[in-house]
Amino acid sequence: MIVHVFETKEQAGLAAAQLFGACILSKPDTVMGLATGSTSIETYAQLIRLHREGILDFSRCTSFNLDEYVGLADDHPCSYHRFMKEQLFDRINIKNTHVPRGNAKNLKEETERYDREIQNAGGIDIQFLGIGHNGHIGFNEPDSVFSYSTQIVSLTQSTIQANLRFFDSEEDVPRQAISLGVGGIMKARKIVLVAVGEAKAKAVRAMITGDLDPQVQASILRVHPDTVILLDKQAAALL
Ligand code: F6R
Repeated sequence: MIVHVFETKEQAGLAAAQLFGACILSKPDTVMGLATGSTSIETYAQLIRLHREGILDFSRCTSFNLDEYVGLADDHPCSYHRFMKEQLFDRINIKNTHVPRGNAKNLKEETERYDREIQNAGGIDIQFLGIGHNGHIGFNEPDSVFSYSTQIVSLTQSTIQANLRFFDSEEDVPRQAISLGVGGIMKARKIVLVAVGEAKAKAVRAMITGDLDPQVQASILRVHPDTVILLDKQAAALL
C-alpha cells in the first residue's frame, strides 16, 4: 500500500485522475471500476478536463460502478445511475458503462449477472474507491467477515445519516443497496482510494494502521498488491 498526503483535496483528486489517465494511455481498453459520492467528483472533473483537452479518449474503455440503491429507478434523481451520467458519463466519450440495477425484479440474479459481466470484460484494471466514515468500501459495511461477491447489503444507520444530504428526508434514504463485494474489489489489478476531510481521519487511521478487521472493511486493502491511497492533510491528521 502506497500512501500520499497532499496539501489540498483538489490535489488528491487530481492525483487519482492522473493514475487513471496513465492507465488509459497505456491500455486504451481499460476496464475502470468507479464509485459515486462527494470524493469522486473532483477526480471526475479532472478526467472530463483531460478528455476535453484531447489527452484522454474513453471510447474503448468499459466501466463498472461499485453500487446502487435498491428500489431506485435508473433516472431517480438520487440514483447512482443518474449521478454517474451527470458527473461523468454524459461529459466524456465512454460508451460501455455498467451500474448495478437496483430495481431489478430478481436482485439475486442481478448480483450474479453483474459479477459475470465483470469477468466477461476481463476484470477491473483500475478501481476508484472512497471510504465511508465507518471504513466501508463500496457499500460493504462493518461485519464479522469480509464480503466476497456482489450482494444485497443493509445500510448501517451511520451510512444512512451520511447519505441523507442527497435526499429530502431520512425516510427517503433506501435501506438497502446492491454492492460489489470486497472480494470483487480485491480482484482489481490496481486500486486507487481517495479520502479527504477530517471526518474521514478515523477511518483512514483504522484502514492504514489498525488490525486487518472486517469491522473496517477497507483494512483488507493492506494485503492488495497494488493499492495507492491519496489523502489530503485533514484525512491524514491521525496517522
Ligand atoms: C459510493 C461508494 C461509497 C463511497 C463512500 C464515501 O459508490 O462506494 O463507498 O465512496 O461512502 O462517500 P463520500 O465520497 O460521499 O464521502
